[in-house]
Amino acid sequence: MKKLFAMLLTLMMSFTLTACNGDEKSADSEKISEKNKILVAYFSCTGSTKNLAETSAEILKADLYEIKPAVPYTTEDLNYKDETTRATVEQRNQTARPELADKNANIGQYDIIVIAYPIWWHTAPKIIETFLESYDFSGKKILPICTSGGSDIIESVDNLKNLPLKNVQWLEGKCFFKNPAPEQIKAYFGSVNLQ
Ligand SMILES: Cc1cc2nc3c(=O)[nH]c(=O)nc-3n(C[C@H](O)[C@H](O)[C@H](O)COP(=O)(O)O)c2cc1C
Repeated sequence: MKKLFAMLLTLMMSFTLTACNGDEKSADSEKISEKNKILVAYFSCTGSTKNLAETSAEILKADLYEIKPAVPYTTEDLNYKDETTRATVEQRNQTARPELADKNANIGQYDIIVIAYPIWWHTAPKIIETFLESYDFSGKKILPICTSGGSDIIESVDNLKNLPLKNVQWLEGKCFFKNPAPEQIKAYFGSVNLQ
């Protein structure tokens, strides 16, 4: 009888331990999104930033929103070798604010907004400024990430921080070269305090 009781107890304990371990595992993988609701808002013309944004949203268990221009950029608009083309002319004009196709990003329901953009002439495309000035970001954390052909993120973030956004906390951003591996993106988010 005593032996049977001991066996039953061991069985029950091992079941409880397994259940606990299972819970811990899922709590760990849900860690980031459990506490903070995250939106990844991205602008991309040739796909690199779109890939970065999609992978980021997957890693962070975040929602995804595409920042679309009312007038899409053509290949010729992006030709930075010709200084008279649209993207280059806009980037040289401090007051340029290309119109958005929609204002449907429900910013109010998120705690952290990851803004993903390509580097254009060392800065963020002007449409990112339109986006940031079109919503109320007060009380939010903003995390800028970008893709580039080699430039870093510094100048673009300095520029965005000069926008008149009230009560916003900027998190440490990062620029990725073209199409980074998911492991690299994951390692970066692991190094940022998103709690
Ligand atoms: C108008 C324009 C200007 C650019 N300026 C820079 C630059 O200053 N530094 C840089 O490293 N890459 C520059 N690039 C390259 C883009 O940052 C890079 O290709 C980026 O990954 C494109 O992102 P997307 O595919 O999401 O549009 C520029 C590209 C364009 C179209």
